[in-house]
Amino acid sequence: MNSDVQRTVILKAWPFLEETIKDMFSSSFPGCFNVADLGCSSGPNTLLVISKIIDTIHKLCHQANKKLPEFQVFLNDLPRNDFNSIFQSLPEFYKRIKKEKFGPCFVAGMPGSFYERLFPSRSINFIHSSYSVHWLSKVPENLENNKRNIYITKSSPPSVCQTFLEQFQRDFSAFLSLRSEEIVSGGPMFLTFLGRSIADPSSKDCCCLLELLTKSLIQLVNEGLVEEADVDSFNMPCYFPYEEEVKSIVREQDRCGQNVANSIRAVTEPMLASHFGNAVIDPLFARFATLVAEHLAVEKTKVVAEPMLASHFGNAVIDPLFARFAMLVAEHLAVEKTKHINLVISMTRK
Ligand SMILES: C[S@@+](CC[C@H](N)C(=O)[O-])C[C@H]1O[C@@H](n2cnc3c(N)ncnc32)[C@H](O)[C@@H]1O
Repeated sequence: MNSDVQRTVILKAWPFLEETIKDMFSSSFPGCFNVADLGCSSGPNTLLVISKIIDTIHKLCHQANKKLPEFQVFLNDLPRNDFNSIFQSLPEFYKRIKKEKFGPCFVAGMPGSFYERLFPSRSINFIHSSYSVHWLSKVPENLENNKRNIYITKSSPPSVCQTFLEQFQRDFSAFLSLRSEEIVSGGPMFLTFLGRSIADPSSKDCCCLLELLTKSLIQLVNEGLVEEADVDSFNMPCYFPYEEEVKSIVREQDRCGQNVANSIRAVTEPMLASHFGNAVIDPLFARFATLVAEHLAVEKTKVVAEPMLASHFGNAVIDPLFARFAMLVAEHLAVEKTKHINLVISMTRK
């Protein structure tokens, strides 16, 4: 229900992913193909990419008259992820694989943080991750001066922007180094995550929903429902990097002989079009689309942020907070179309 934007972006990035698989296919090819999806979650997208990867390899094998490989799929997420619901959807998935006459496929869960080692050395042939790597390993430290904010905004001091950036640099470098130990030589890694198209880290193209969430919290402070000190001490553990910030980390990896980037692209997805395609430009549907997008933006933010907000501010705050947030999102979407900037990176292990 809350995965439509991710799904649209996965499909938009698909031609690049297909390109990556074709490049890999032209070199060597194993009898058992180990794929890992990092930050798989437990929604309708969880098996979507895996199905598409298997589908593409199947077609390429047919074209080249090669024997189909067996597939071992590792679905990774944090231990609290609902792996049971994924496992319950597997019989249906296996049925389809059998019907399409794909090679045998074995799916396993791999709970753990992708900021730690997850797999044995040189054991994975292909690593995929979508909409996950913008989550940091933790809330950055020393953000006491980010008063009345929960992420970077125009009023955040420059030191706050630097603190978030440095945490992302540490985390993303660690993520790439850890994966370079796990992936086979020549193995590709394909990552899609939220970023920004403007160097300024407080630019609207990445922070707008979090800014509206902050405004909602401040309204609750003004109404006496939330302590100002609690807002001051809360920050979101995420970062939406600028393309150049990612490139410089990737260049460093290349220098250390670990991973080399084949391509880094930015894919933009207007929030409304991701649900309605071109119909949204039809003025007849515009208001309707706004109402639904508004609902989805609120629900999506709620799904992701509610556990963190509830543990910091208490459960009682959730309903009034999201009621105010819904109003602010509605006002925002009435005057502006929000876009998601996605960075799509294809890399190869040296
Ligand atoms: C928005 S969901 C993306 C789901 C799916 N990949 C998609 O594209 O629809 C982000 C997922 O990343 C997971 N995640 C965040 N930090 C993680 C970490 N350090 N290790 C593993 N998974 C993590 C979250 O638990 C969540 O399920």
